[in-house]
Amino acid sequence: MHDSTRVIHAGLPEPSQGQPFLPGPVFAGPYHLSGDPSSSPFNYGRVHNPTWTGFERALGELEGGEAVVFASGMAATSAVMGSVLQPGDVMVLPADGYYTARRLAEGYLTRIGVKVRMAPTAGNGQGDCLEGAKLLWLESPSNPGLDVCDIAALARAAHERGVVVAVDNTTPTVLGQRPLALGADYSIASDTKALTGHGDLVLGHVAVREPQRVEGLRTWRTQIGAIPGPMEVWLAHRSLGTLDMRLERMTANALAVARFLAGRAEVKRVRYPGLPGDPAHAVAARQMVRFGPIVSFEVASAKAAETFLGGCKLILQSTSFGGLHTTAERRARWGGDKVPEGFIRLSAGCEHLEDILHDLDQALSAA
Ligand SMILES: Cc1ncc(COP(=O)(O)O)c(C=O)c1O
Repeated sequence: MHDSTRVIHAGLPEPSQGQPFLPGPVFAGPYHLSGDPSSSPFNYGRVHNPTWTGFERALGELEGGEAVVFASGMAATSAVMGSVLQPGDVMVLPADGYYTARRLAEGYLTRIGVKVRMAPTAGNGQGDCLEGAKLLWLESPSNPGLDVCDIAALARAAHERGVVVAVDNTTPTVLGQRPLALGADYSIASDTKALTGHGDLVLGHVAVREPQRVEGLRTWRTQIGAIPGPMEVWLAHRSLGTLDMRLERMTANALAVARFLAGRAEVKRVRYPGLPGDPAHAVAARQMVRFGPIVSFEVASAKAAETFLGGCKLILQSTSFGGLHTTAERRARWGGDKVPEGFIRLSAGCEHLEDILHDLDQALSAA
């Protein structure tokens, strides 16, 4: 079946007379449990929850493996790093990836004795740092610079050296790119973003091909306690059904926005992997199903960027990306990314394209 069909039915229980398509959230701390705890599929709310199980089944079907849901994208990230790495191990990270993951690596992981090597996503730069490594962490397209690496080629090179491969797949989502099919051992995403897409929750997940990796993740989640709330997971499962439709609209809008921005004198260095002239396009076109909602670009200065953002009437000023609403922000305001002061990350939403372009036009002209 097609993705657009699979995503609507993913993880739903067998039809049962008088029951809803998607059962409601189960709110439980303890469950009724007598005698041998292993005689029940559910014993305590930090360990299992049937609402998680349904959503994990859905994600597993879409990812092509088994999935474990976490309280946030960072909880998912730290579960993979924490369950794979030991003191003395080497991790290879993208120098231009999500900055909180870099800070976790440079801070806590370095403190406990993990060695971190960083290299750029572009040009498969991380491939030069694999010797003696334990974990290769990729993020493609990278946030916020939107560089792309060849996941299959890097996974092959890593596996030849016994290196485990993890891909942060947040920016494209599982319907935009399939890390496990490209050879990754772990596919990680912040589901706070496009996967759920309504800006109303924080969530993450990890998917794996090899069942033996699942236990490590579940044990980590149980012991660290970074568990998601049943309400968030239920909302996520409900929202998943529209992912294909949302991505289709967001991706078409993003490409049109990138083309529009590339034609404006006020704007320089527009990046979008779907633009045929973009440096990332050739590899992205080979390995991605969809190019995703994010477009990045630069204006002359921090002041010009803030004036532009302040002049937007429809486009919301906000961090995060992948939602129904078109949003934009000046990334350098956070201080975590090595980007110019006038660098803007825009996430194309699902509004009518003409309304988005009209807003961009008037805000750029005013700036
Ligand atoms: C690429 C990427 N990975 C991971 C995360 C962390 O996700 P969360 O905010 O859900 O913890 C983010 C958040 O922006 C992200 O952009």
